[in-house]
Amino acid sequence: MAAAFTSFYFLLCSCLALISLARAEDTDQFIYNGFGGANLHLDGNAKIHHNGLLQLTNTSKQLVGHAFYPSPIKFNTSSPSSARSLSFSTNFVIAMVPEWKDTSGHGIVFVISPSMDFSHAVESQYLGLFNATNNGNSSNHIFAVEFDTILSPEFEDRNNNHVGIDVNGLKSIQSEPAAYFSNEERKNRSLKLISGHPIQVWVDYNDEEKLLNVTLAPKRSPKPDQPLLSTSVDLSDILLDTMYVGFSAATGSIASNHYLLGWSFNRRGQAQSLEISELPKLPKVGRRIKPDRLILIIAAGFLLVIITGATYFYRRKKYEEVNEDWEQEYGPQRFSYKTLYKATQGFRDKQLVGAGGFGKVYKGTLPSSKEQIAVKKVSHESNQGMKEFVSEIVSMGRLRHKNLVPLLGYCRRKKELLLVYDYMPNGSLDQFLFDNDHPNLNWSQRFQIIRGVASALRYLHEEWEQVVLHRDVKASNVLLDSNLNGRLGDFGLARFYDRDAGPQTTRLVGTLGYLDPEITRTGKATKSSDVFAFGAFLLEVACGRKPIDPHRPREEIFLVELVNRCWKRGIILDASDPRLQGNYVVEEMVKVLKLGLLCSNPRPGRRPTIKEVVQYLDGNASLPDIPLDRAENNPSFVLETLTRDSAETNLSVANNLASDCIISFSTFLGRGSLNSFSSTDTVLHVGR
Ligand SMILES: *[C@@H]1O[C@H](CO)[C@@H](O)[C@H](O)[C@H]1NC(C)=O
Ligand SMILES: *[C@@H]1O[C@H](CO)[C@@H](O)[C@H](O)[C@H]1NC(C)=O
Ligand SMILES: *[C@@H]1O[C@H](CO)[C@@H](O)[C@H](O)[C@H]1NC(C)=O
Ligand SMILES: *[C@@H]1O[C@H](CO)[C@@H](O)[C@H](O)[C@H]1NC(C)=O
Ligand SMILES: *[C@@H]1O[C@H](CO)[C@@H](O)[C@H](O)[C@H]1NC(C)=O
Ligand SMILES: *[C@@H]1O[C@H](CO)[C@@H](O)[C@H](O)[C@H]1NC(C)=O
Repeated sequence: MAAAFTSFYFLLCSCLALISLARAEDTDQFIYNGFGGANLHLDGNAKIHHNGLLQLTNTSKQLVGHAFYPSPIKFNTSSPSSARSLSFSTNFVIAMVPEWKDTSGHGIVFVISPSMDFSHAVESQYLGLFNATNNGNSSNHIFAVEFDTILSPEFEDRNNNHVGIDVNGLKSIQSEPAAYFSNEERKNRSLKLISGHPIQVWVDYNDEEKLLNVTLAPKRSPKPDQPLLSTSVDLSDILLDTMYVGFSAATGSIASNHYLLGWSFNRRGQAQSLEISELPKLPKVGRRIKPDRLILIIAAGFLLVIITGATYFYRRKKYEEVNEDWEQEYGPQRFSYKTLYKATQGFRDKQLVGAGGFGKVYKGTLPSSKEQIAVKKVSHESNQGMKEFVSEIVSMGRLRHKNLVPLLGYCRRKKELLLVYDYMPNGSLDQFLFDNDHPNLNWSQRFQIIRGVASALRYLHEEWEQVVLHRDVKASNVLLDSNLNGRLGDFGLARFYDRDAGPQTTRLVGTLGYLDPEITRTGKATKSSDVFAFGAFLLEVACGRKPIDPHRPREEIFLVELVNRCWKRGIILDASDPRLQGNYVVEEMVKVLKLGLLCSNPRPGRRPTIKEVVQYLDGNASLPDIPLDRAENNPSFVLETLTRDSAETNLSVANNLASDCIISFSTFLGRGSLNSFSSTDTVLHVGR
């Protein structure tokens, strides 16, 4: 009994083995009426639903999905051509169910490929088959039939609903708008690939005729008598001895559900017809609407339209820019407001990193490159001179010096100019000098910064195509990069304010304490007025305090006066920053303090040029003597000049701020108080 059972068992096993052996050899023919339990090679987003529906992608963006028959197909290309045939026939049913009606991407392809590894392939228009490098390369050995729902001009697609035959790349050797031949009507009828309805496809290749036919039809129609595409193609150059057959689908920025319902394949004759009634059903989308609900839905739709419209106009307003014809040539330097808005998270206060005389500065990250930027928002009243200014700003974008903050570009809105700079992680120098929360800079760092700023200023004055005046040199306009190198920012911006003034007024732009008294006479900035400001900057870095500090006793309010007094008494080092605790190179400190005094000379002719300043700092020339003129380096003299000249030319003070300045100066001269002048960041405007 046991022996009988054993022999029966043995027989059963042999039979099973035989069957599976037959199966393994039988790889030139298969049929799937639905994919329930099918052992396909799937990757990417591809999956098989419980009902046997194969889904290659869902409606998420930038997806790929592949499904391959797991065993290779022998094409016998190495056999002599008389003894082999490359013919094949396949029949399948696809469905593309778009996320939104009438927009869908990108498509499905039937593919014959030497490998199932598409890990290097890209989604969107590359359909999960190729990438920009290998597209079109004859070493790919890939044959495909694409069902493409997006028009990709780079591949010379004819429309957004076409079927194409692809050899090694996505530029189809032949393609036609999707259509089928109706056997009953004896005419062609167009077919919409993204209708959401299943479409049956036949691909037949006859190796003797070297003819490839692709035929489409709605799911329940019989095979049309005429194919959509009948293309001469010799596959012997393309197919290798063993190949894999399968499907790829991809989505892009718009997406579609890509499905496969059934598939048959045959190397020895016509592919078996699919059992249409057995094919899995697509998931239901949309429901029928009861009439009483219809009104509600129409009302909701109406509301939606209003909200969408309002949102649209709100967004347009939100991102509205000013962009005139003459700006075309600055295209590459132009940033869209939307980009900057996103980069700075909507100019949130959290992103604010500074606010100076010219406007607020926001930190941001460019959405595309993740590059960190600083965006300066400069407000302006009129459009006058904007063209010249923008052209100047853009040409300044070409300024390249390791001690300048690179200007990346700009954007323009109504009453607002936005300048985009490289982000400087360490912020501005004044914080290190005056803010006890920041670490102290040692002398060698400070000296390095001074030399860097001097060389940047020399570049602006002497070394570029045209002279660029900075007009607002001061510690708060010197930014520190990640290596604590000083970089001069805000160059040329002061000019903007000049231009913005009406024809009757001249505005003096600069910051009190750094502002050349000569400017108050002539109204004109010069190279020499930049040197004056640089002098104030030198003293500020060496002494660790601002040029004007109204909170100090009368004789210490003006830094230059204090340093001058120390120098005359032969104790110039007493003026150095106490936070340095005497840790500095004495010669360098003396040189910087003296140079500060030289540059602060109220008479422009007696100040050194920036070229000379650099030579002194580099030790390539020795400092000249400082003239012992009583009036010079005396800020009271400077202020008297300012007020006296105002009176002489009978200036009417056009601007509240200006009147504030002058009144407080006068008050200060008479009574020794300067309370309304605590901010050294103020821009001085004087009307004429
Ligand atoms: C698409 O499939 C992926 C992976 O299964 C899933 O994370 C994602 O949520 C799906 N998207 C949609 C729209 O269903
Ligand atoms: C391919 O070659 C193998 C053996 O070399 C043979 O068994 C098979 O029938 C051939 N297939 C076709 C389609 O010619
Ligand atoms: C493109 O795909 C090929 C493999 O087919 C791969 O070697 C190459 O690195 C890919 N190129 C890119 C840019 O991904
Ligand atoms: C095609 O691909 C091969 C192998 O990847 C490479 O060596 C060759 O340079 C490519 N040809 C072209 C024209 O890119
Ligand atoms: C149908 O379309 C195909 C492909 O465009 C074309 O070759 C054929 O002549 C058309 N047939 C009719 C009856 O218009
Ligand atoms: C391809 O289509 C042409 C024209 O209808 C037909 O003559 C030919 O037999 C077809 N070939 C195959 C392999 O179906």
